[in-house]
Amino acid sequence: MTCNRRTVLAAAFLAAFTAVTPVFAAKPLVIGFSQVGAESEWRTANTVSIKDAAKKDGITLKFADAQQKQENQVKAIRSFIAQRVDVIAFSPVVESGWDTVLREAKAAKIPVILTDRAVNVSDPSLYVTFIGSDFVEEGRRAGRWLLDRAKKTPDAVINIVELQGTVGSAPALDRKKGFEEVIATNPKLKVIRSQTGDFTRAKGKEVMEAFLKAEGKKINVLYAHNDDMAIGAIQAIEEAGMKPGKDIVVISIDGVKGAFEAMIAGKLNVTVECSPLLGPQLMQIARDVVANKPVPKRITTQESVFPAEVAAKEFPNRKY
Ligand code: AHR
Repeated sequence: MTCNRRTVLAAAFLAAFTAVTPVFAAKPLVIGFSQVGAESEWRTANTVSIKDAAKKDGITLKFADAQQKQENQVKAIRSFIAQRVDVIAFSPVVESGWDTVLREAKAAKIPVILTDRAVNVSDPSLYVTFIGSDFVEEGRRAGRWLLDRAKKTPDAVINIVELQGTVGSAPALDRKKGFEEVIATNPKLKVIRSQTGDFTRAKGKEVMEAFLKAEGKKINVLYAHNDDMAIGAIQAIEEAGMKPGKDIVVISIDGVKGAFEAMIAGKLNVTVECSPLLGPQLMQIARDVVANKPVPKRITTQESVFPAEVAAKEFPNRKY
């Protein structure tokens, strides 16, 4: 047998063997994902988006719910490193305190992708890319809507109460910053109380009750860093005998279905969109990273603002 003929036979044998033997099939990509928790309607939609996208793309997803605790996320990331996953992705509950564990991931040569929330690290090479919203701009959008609304009553002082998200989290810091930056241009707009409601309905209600007890009818506007806290606060306003959306203008962020229902019911005035549907992008970027393709350092989601006037028309199009 000539050398050429032997090579052809060997190739044919290998082709036939790999066609029937799955051990030769490409190994599925393994992503370890550490989620913040299940604190809001937004978060639930985000989890569904990530799980569905992984399933659709045949990617093995190791999913860990951190129950809004940074220490749980650190543990999950260490466990992904020990399991030698291909990519680690996570939505950091707070912005700071990630340097050590991310250095461990880098030393293990496992690329890290941030989704939804950013980190504050000394060395930006500790993560490959960030996929998510511009939270500062969301805060500005909420502020601009209020500036515009304030034109209706140019002489009146407008007292605002603010429900902040989780202390130290990127969306809480940035949404506060963006909103303040814009309302500072009108001295009639004053934030009289600001406290965290941890992005949950229960906390949003509880803190709004305290605001109402302290300030009562002085409150003209509620600015909530997410829809869930606004929905909880709406209940508190109603229980205090006032009309949310009328006696107190309600502004929030996310654009979940619950917010659209509240707008249709006339209880919420505007929601600034923040999309949780990051799953398909995450899977694509993870594949690109593993294939050593260049990826942008930041991938920002395109979003909109939905005032109550458009809620009924937009509601059927909402995906979360
Ligand atoms: O990080 C995104 C924020 O986290 C959403 O606005 C909020 O609803 C969630 O819990």
